[in-house]
Amino acid sequence: MQLTAEERAMLAGEQGPGVQKAMEIVVALGKIYGAEGLVPVQSVQVAGVSFKNLGEAGLEFLREWAAQGARVRVPTTLNPAGMDLTNWRALGFPEEFARRQMEVIDAFQAMGITPGCSCTPYLVGNVPRLGQHLAWSESSAVSFANSVLGARTNREGGPGALAAAVVGRTARYGLHLDDNRKARYIVEVRCPLRSEADYGALGYLVGRAVRDGVPYFKGIGNGDWGLEKGQLPGPKSLIPLKALGAAMAASGAVALYHVEGFTPEARRGNVVAPEAPTLVFDSLDEAYAALNAPVEDFDESIDLVSIGCPHASLEEIETIAAWLKGKRVKTRLWVTTARKIKEIARERGWLETIERAGGQVVADTCLVVAPIEMLDVHNIATNSAKAAFYCPGHCGSKVHYGPLEQCLEAAVSGKWSSSARKGL
Ligand code: F3S
Repeated sequence: MQLTAEERAMLAGEQGPGVQKAMEIVVALGKIYGAEGLVPVQSVQVAGVSFKNLGEAGLEFLREWAAQGARVRVPTTLNPAGMDLTNWRALGFPEEFARRQMEVIDAFQAMGITPGCSCTPYLVGNVPRLGQHLAWSESSAVSFANSVLGARTNREGGPGALAAAVVGRTARYGLHLDDNRKARYIVEVRCPLRSEADYGALGYLVGRAVRDGVPYFKGIGNGDWGLEKGQLPGPKSLIPLKALGAAMAASGAVALYHVEGFTPEARRGNVVAPEAPTLVFDSLDEAYAALNAPVEDFDESIDLVSIGCPHASLEEIETIAAWLKGKRVKTRLWVTTARKIKEIARERGWLETIERAGGQVVADTCLVVAPIEMLDVHNIATNSAKAAFYCPGHCGSKVHYGPLEQCLEAAVSGKWSSSARKGL
């Protein structure tokens, strides 16, 4: 691998053991993936923040690295933690878990990271530009940054991303290179996409089919979502796009997709590899059947309705508040989001409306990385295909999957209507 003089000095330990360890990780990853050199990164997003996933060993690793003098040198944000960092007690998180989670946050802070725990950093000020190189690790954020913003990042592991933040560089391979950004599949969608849950269902099917390939979508243009050829991505279109990308990254490992005439690289043209096969999708029924608990396990009762995976945008919170106005929920309702978004929602009065209806806007965390199994939750309703995909395994819960309105109706009635099940 070609390293600059400064990079060689870091590797030799001239900037201290914390930097040396980081450079060793970055170089080791580069060698594994055949990189010829490193590339400076504009920002880093670190996953692996929840104590639920890190455990004692992960916490010790972070503490030791911080004590060795590792400090980030580019803007760095964190993925959701295992709990709301300020409101955890009211939400029922156990004291001991909270103590350990705060120790994890302290270790990140010791490295110079300001905790803003979200999987949608692009909604709260960290908006990469076309062609910028990044080292992000949350799969849905990676997908959004590559596809909708046209930035360049591989899906980094937690330690790899942190190492990139400490040395300000990552290995130049994979999606940092032009050739690897070409679509290997053309995906023709011939069924209507009416809700964000439909986009998630489509993402589930496509991710399963193409695995880590790059799909090029045709036929998902939809004026209702602002997803038409020639339009620029706006607040409305990011709702279906983040649902689609998160689902493909969950059921497969899709880190980049293109949408004909819409996403930045697709607009430039020449983005499809020669001889890319065409896959046709004309029904979402199979996805709805797979993402809902099996028929034989059907249980209409709901413990928790969860919206905001990936973290909810302001527009989503506004919609939820408008729908809930004057109503009262019978189940727990969590709207998970970034802390900054929660604060703006408070200023605009939407938080009060949701709380008056009995719901909670939960910051810093999400259903999948929180220790839901400790909160006596068994039946979940969600409009997120990613959450529906992971919850049975990660949280041991049954899942009902459907569009936002159906989830909110379930929160108000306390039940998931069996007649509303799709794909059966
Ligand atoms: Fe974000 Fe958690 Fe979903 S990290 S994408 S809200 S699983």
